[in-house]
Parts: sequence; structure tokens; C-alpha cells
Amino acid sequence: MTRLASSRAPKLNDPSLFKTDVCYVNGEWVKAASGKTFEVNDPATGDFIGTCPEFTGKDTENAIAAAAAAFPSFRTKTGREKARLLRKWYDLVVENSDDLAKLITWENGKPFADAKGEVAYAASFFEWFSEEAPRIYGDSIPATVPGNRVVTIKQPVGVCGLITPWNFPAAMVTRKLGPALAAGCTVVVKTPGETPFTALALAELAHRAGIPKGVVNFVTTLKNTPEVGETLATHPTVRKVSFTGSTAVGRLLMKQASPTLKILSMELGGNAPFIVFDDADVDAAVAGAIASKFRSSGQTCVCANRIYVQKGIYDEFAQKFAEKVKGFKVGNGFDEGITHGPLIHDRAVSKVEAHIKDAEKKGGKVVVGGQKLPDLGANFYQPTVITGMTKEMAIAGEETFGPVAGLFPFATEQEVVDLANSAEVGLAGYFFSRDLERITRVAEALEVGMVGINTGLISDTASPFGGVKQSGFGREGSKYGIDEYLNIKTITWGGMNKPLQS
Ligand code: SIN
Repeated sequence: MTRLASSRAPKLNDPSLFKTDVCYVNGEWVKAASGKTFEVNDPATGDFIGTCPEFTGKDTENAIAAAAAAFPSFRTKTGREKARLLRKWYDLVVENSDDLAKLITWENGKPFADAKGEVAYAASFFEWFSEEAPRIYGDSIPATVPGNRVVTIKQPVGVCGLITPWNFPAAMVTRKLGPALAAGCTVVVKTPGETPFTALALAELAHRAGIPKGVVNFVTTLKNTPEVGETLATHPTVRKVSFTGSTAVGRLLMKQASPTLKILSMELGGNAPFIVFDDADVDAAVAGAIASKFRSSGQTCVCANRIYVQKGIYDEFAQKFAEKVKGFKVGNGFDEGITHGPLIHDRAVSKVEAHIKDAEKKGGKVVVGGQKLPDLGANFYQPTVITGMTKEMAIAGEETFGPVAGLFPFATEQEVVDLANSAEVGLAGYFFSRDLERITRVAEALEVGMVGINTGLISDTASPFGGVKQSGFGREGSKYGIDEYLNIKTITWGGMNKPLQS
């Protein structure tokens, strides 16, 4: 039986960007061998959006074979040729940004204005890496051995498996694809089961940009996600896996990838500390904390998770912060004036509820929110502020990935740095202060991959993105991102110390 998409389905300027029932392998739109599909639903309404092929490991092997067949030719493209392809893809993403943003809001739920912001962010990775592609330099190294000459060249690592998350359905795909293609790699992208349609629209734009067949392959799955992930992590042809997602899945993929010693990039979970010192500009700190905590309704891995406020300004900060949160407008991301959309699914709602319940049981006080919003839909939850947080509460040790801001009081710089560093993960950390010496001390002491000082927003194509500790390893974006997709080859030749011939 054909199911109709709901009346809330957005009207695309170019309806052919909405690909249902097919995914993209070897330059063609294909189905799963079994013919099986899975349903994708709108997180705001629960309504049916469309179906995608339920790929298996075997189907994924075809995509890997296509990428392997395309590699020998693609790797020989000059930097300029790869740059032009990426630039063309960038232009098409920009031209179609309204449609891509509609797809993001539809399947992810984030407000349309945020989705437009994400498309610009996504496109910027193609632009950035189109500029890096012609600038992949090796070295000339003065050798120790007399008569030897040593040079290095950088070569693409080969076929890559790119496993992407649902919270940025466009930007996390392009942040991996841009450097992979600039380096000369060919790829299989495993799209997230919750948000495959934005990625498939990107595949259609890749096709129109003239990306050669087999260079980019997009596979879809929901139920078989573990099997498809395992295929990418274990297949001997795949030389590298780049994964953005939870620390638990990162550990599993690393284990699976170890027998074939794949190169890995792991952009895993965070539990970002956000510290406000007594000497901070409180209004600026409130604005920064709002931006960091509630971006995408708290569903980014760099969102503030533990907000530490020094005792001298705790009450003032809490009151101003709570006022701002009361002003949020929660609803369907397509509606005018909506600041925050739904969570992605009921499991996300349950985690939010559990964290709030745990904090309340241990003495925390909910000063804003704390309830589901069933009138809006099953996945909506009130943005919530809790005061009186302590280190015994679940939020202190675990990423909520939802719209819950817990405010922890603290007394000293040493105490708060110890608290911040007590997490086993270390992706992002933020603090607000106007004391230059403190700024230097704390920035250097925080055990994270990225620090925001007097800002709650640190994401930028030009900045290296990645973590330390159990937030993983590898850097995306920036001048470093392309290195993740390149091997350095050392070439030594000897006998170069003979005298000039006369
Ligand atoms: C993420 O949540 O993984 C990415 C967030 C960002 O790039 O800002």
C-alpha cells in the first residue's frame, strides 16, 4: 500500500531532489536486493515522510566495490580537477539551499532558519576543501645518509566509509566528503536512518555536478545499521572509517576495524563544561550559554551540558538565564517564529525525562520547563532549567543531548577545572571571564579538543573540530581535515653523491 506524506510536507522548488525508495550506488539510483525498505517519519508530527532501501551488509559490499573500481581513476585527478568538481557541488548546494533546508526541517525537526544555517555550514566544507585540493604538498627532506635524497608525497588513503549522524543531516556529510574527495579518495556514505533524505538530495547534486560514477555512494538503512556499520569497519577494501556519533558505537567500530588496521577518525560524544566566572560579563555569558546549550534543542555534541556558575553571580545568572529560556517558542520548525523544534525521537525524550527526574530526586530545582508538550507532539519537550545541581547527578557525568540546562554552583577556579576535567570525554569546553591571566590558565588546563572563551559558538569550517579522551581523535574541517584522508609516502633514492661528469 502506498502511504501518502502528510499535508505538512514541504513544497520543494525542485521536487526531484526528494529521492524515495532508492539510494545512490555507482552513479545509479538503486534499491536493496531484498526490495525491503524502511519508513522515515517527521519528528514534529510523527507523519510519514517516505521510504528508503533497507540495505544489508551484502548490498553495502556492492557500494564498496563501486568505490574501489572508481578509485584508480579518481586518485589520478589533479588537484585543480578535484577542486572544480567540489566547487560545482558547492554551487549546487547553495543554489538549492532552500530545498535542502526544507528537507532538514522535515526529517530532523530543527527550525527552518537553523536548517538554512546548516546548509550554509554544509556548503562551506565543499568550498573550503575545493580550495585545499590543489594545495596538497609533500616535503623535500635533507637526508642523514650521504648521497641520499628524500622527498615525501601525499596520496589518498583509498576507499573510505563515512558514517554520519542525524543531528546535522547535511553538514556532517559534507564535513567528511569535502576532504575525502579533495584528497582523491572514493567513499561509501552510510546515511542516518532518521534523516536519509537530505543526504540523498546531496547525492543527486553530486550526480548533477558530474562527480564520476562510483566516487560517492550513499547507502541507507535503519534496522540493519549495525550490520552495515560492521561491513564498512571490517571490509578489507575499506582503508578508512570516519564516524560521528556516540562513544559507545565508536568503541565498537574501533574494535571491528582493528583486524584490518583501518585508519580511523572518531568524532564522538561530549559533555561540555560551560564555566561562568564572577568576573564575566553576565549578560554576554547568558547569551553564550543559551546559544551553546539550546542549539538544535541541545542535540549537538558540542552543546554545553554542565553549566558551572561561580557563587558570586550564581543567582543573577540563573535568573537572567531562566528569563531567556521562558521566551523560547517551541513548535513545528516550519512555523513562523519557532525557536526550538522537537527532539528526534521518543528515546531522546525519555533520556531528557530521566535526567530531570534524577536531578530532582537528588535536590535539584526545576525553575523553567520540566514537562513534555503532548499538545505539540510526542517528541516535544519544554526547554528546562534546573538550579542547585551537584556532581552526584546524572547530568554531571553523562551527555543529555536535549534541552535541559543544569546550573552547578562552584567556588574556586581549581575546583571548577577539576570538575570540568572529571568527565571521561573531552570534546568542547567554554568559559566566560574578563581576566586575561585566568583566561590563559583555564584555556590551557581544560582537557578538551576545543575551547570557547567568551563565546558559546565555536563551529567554523576554518577551525579544527575534534576531541580528546573518549571524545575520540582526528580533526575535521580546517587545514588539518584533509590529512585524515592522506598517507605520507617517503621516497628515498641513493647514489646521488657522484661528482659532476666532465
Ligand atoms: C556535532 O554535533 O557533531 C557537530 C556540531 C558542530 O559542528 O557544530
